Order: sequence, then structure tokens, then C-alpha cells
Amino acid sequence: MYHYIRDEPPLRGSDLVGCHCWSHRTFTMRCLLSAVLLPLLLRPCTGADWCYQTQVSCPSHCKGPDQWKLVNKDCGESRQSPINIVTKKTVLDERLTPFRFTGYQTVFDSTMKNNGHSVQVNIPITATVSGGNLEETYKAVQFHLHWGNNGGPGSEHTIDGEQYPMELHIVHMKQRYDRLEDALKDPSGVAVLGFFYEESTSTNKKYNEFTHGLRSIQNTNGNTTLRKISLNQLILPEANMTNYYRYDGSLTTPGCTEAVVWTVFENPIPLDIQQLKSFNDLKFKDGSPMVGTFRPIQPRNGRVVYRSSGVAVIASVILILASISAALGLSRPN
Ligand SMILES: *[C@@H]1O[C@H](CO)[C@@H](O)[C@H](O)[C@H]1NC(C)=O
Ligand SMILES: *[C@@H]1O[C@H](CO)[C@@H](O)[C@H](O)[C@H]1NC(C)=O
Ligand SMILES: [Zn+2]
Repeated sequence: MYHYIRDEPPLRGSDLVGCHCWSHRTFTMRCLLSAVLLPLLLRPCTGADWCYQTQVSCPSHCKGPDQWKLVNKDCGESRQSPINIVTKKTVLDERLTPFRFTGYQTVFDSTMKNNGHSVQVNIPITATVSGGNLEETYKAVQFHLHWGNNGGPGSEHTIDGEQYPMELHIVHMKQRYDRLEDALKDPSGVAVLGFFYEESTSTNKKYNEFTHGLRSIQNTNGNTTLRKISLNQLILPEANMTNYYRYDGSLTTPGCTEAVVWTVFENPIPLDIQQLKSFNDLKFKDGSPMVGTFRPIQPRNGRVVYRSSGVAVIASVILILASISAALGLSRPN
């Protein structure tokens, strides 16, 4: 095991940032032991593990998002995801036409798995997406989600600073590749479709099978069969998928590979609060609730975010009208 020590960078002050002993200013001897000595001793076993900010603590000493670049240097590169989308800075792109989907309506059985960071479902059928100014046809490989705590903020992308409760990622790769590893060597080899969720008062019955399945995979590496689902039933009606944002980015977990053409849809998928809370049933490897499974937003670094026609424009016209009428004293709060 000890040969791993040589692969590790030396322990630095920044390794301890984020540890609760420091943030809470309760720097006891026990903290000193667990923050400084234990990591030195345990590093060969646990030091390389990446984790979300909610998992960073003295005993686990896994590497939180601000240290992912030590796990894989790509995580510190310049076109990382997720980002905050500032709608008034997005650029209208007429080439962002509606998508063409195939196989999205096909009903299939698959395995849903708690992989220690999320719930993931591999897609065993051929389902493809093209159009929408994608270079070529991409086929669906897997989908997984990112969420908060009990329906609180949990999406990865944010819109004008707003974080939605959850975000679905359907990961696709160019059809000509057989393995995701190969697609990740191509700067546009992967296309991820990202959907937000919003809390609604009515239950989204199309998600019942999925959310009930979560109870059977509470522990890391737990898996269960998900029967008779289709991709269509998990996403939006096609008419609501014409409004979306597009930019070039990366995977949002290590290795953070910069090979992703991102599509983030404007309309959120509705789930009720119980459905959102059901994701708290899942547990991280250490048995704590799997919550806060999102990477913080990354610098845009001059990248342009494009929008399809329809997005944001109507909203801004309404805002302009509202502000004109407010300025003219035509509306008053009641
Ligand atoms: C699901 O779990 C069983 C054991 O409970 C294991 O044998 C099987 O390989 C797992 N399947 C997947 C896809 O992880
Ligand atoms: C789809 O779009 C219509 C019209 O904008 C809207 O009324 C409806 O709520 C949307 N549905 C979803 C699921 O976003
Ligand atoms: Zn993701």
C-alpha cells in the first residue's frame, strides 16, 4: 500500500481547508490528530478518494471539490462544468434547432445503482439524439442525478444564480465510439443533456418506479432492477425541449474531462417534495445521507453560452414591459 505515498503531493496547509475543525475554530488535540497525523497515516488508503463538500470532515479527509485538481489535474483546467448561466449574457444561436430523438420512447429494464456518489442507470438500448447543432449523432450511455438535502438547492448548473433542487444528466457519446473512454479523448466526444427539477404540488407519477427503487439501493454499491422505463417518461414533453442553453464544458466529477458539449434545458421537470426527499434515502460509503451531490459552479473563463430562440427572450420582454409600466406608475403593489 505504501507505494501510493510517492504519488501523493506533500501535505500542505490547503489540504486542511474545509475541515470542520478549522471552520468551527475548535482546534483541539483530537482535531490535530485527525487533521494532521491521521491523514499522514491513512493517506495510502483513503487519500485519493474524491468527495462532495458535504462529505469533507476530519475523519474522512476525502478530497472535496476544491482539491479535485489533486485527484485529476483536468479539474483545474479552464473549461470546467458546471457554470452559472447569466441569461442576459447568453447569445442567441439560430442553429440551436429542436433535437431529433430516437429510442427515447423504447421501454426497457435496467439496473439502478448507488455508485457512492449518485444513483446511476445504464441504458441498455439504442437511444440517440441529433440535431440542435450537435456535430453528429450521439447515443445515450447512462443517466444519473445531482441533488441537495431534502429538496433544498442541489442542481449543478444555476440560472442567474438560482440553484434548482435537482439536475438530471443523460450522458451520450458520439455514435461511432464503443467506449466512453474513447469518446472522452475527443473534445466534443460526449454530449450531456441536463434537466432541472422543480418542486410541484402534484406527484409526478412517471417517477414512481424510480423513486421507489431508491429504497432498495440505500447502501453504496447496492443495485436493483428498474423495470419498464423509457427515457421519454423521465424528461419533458418534446414541445418543452426547444428552449435550451449550449456551451462547451467538462464532466462534473473527476476526471473532469473537457470533452462535453452541454445542453441545459430551460423548463424544469416537476416532482413533489416527497419525491425530492426520497433521494435522502441513499447513503454515501460511510453511511451518512447522500446529500449535496453537486459540484460548485466553475469560472466561465470567457466561454460563450448560446441559447436557442425562445429562451429568456420572452421573459426579458415581459421584464422590460414591467419596468416601463412601473416607471410610468401604471402598476402599483397591492
Ligand atoms: C448487483 O448486486 C449483486 C449482489 O447484490 C451483484 O452480484 C451484481 O453484480 C450487482 N450488479 C451490478 C450491475 O452492479
Ligand atoms: C411546457 O411548456 C408549456 C408552455 O410554455 C408550459 O405551460 C408547461 O408548464 C411546460 N411543461 C413543463 C413540464 O415544463
Ligand atoms: Zn452529472
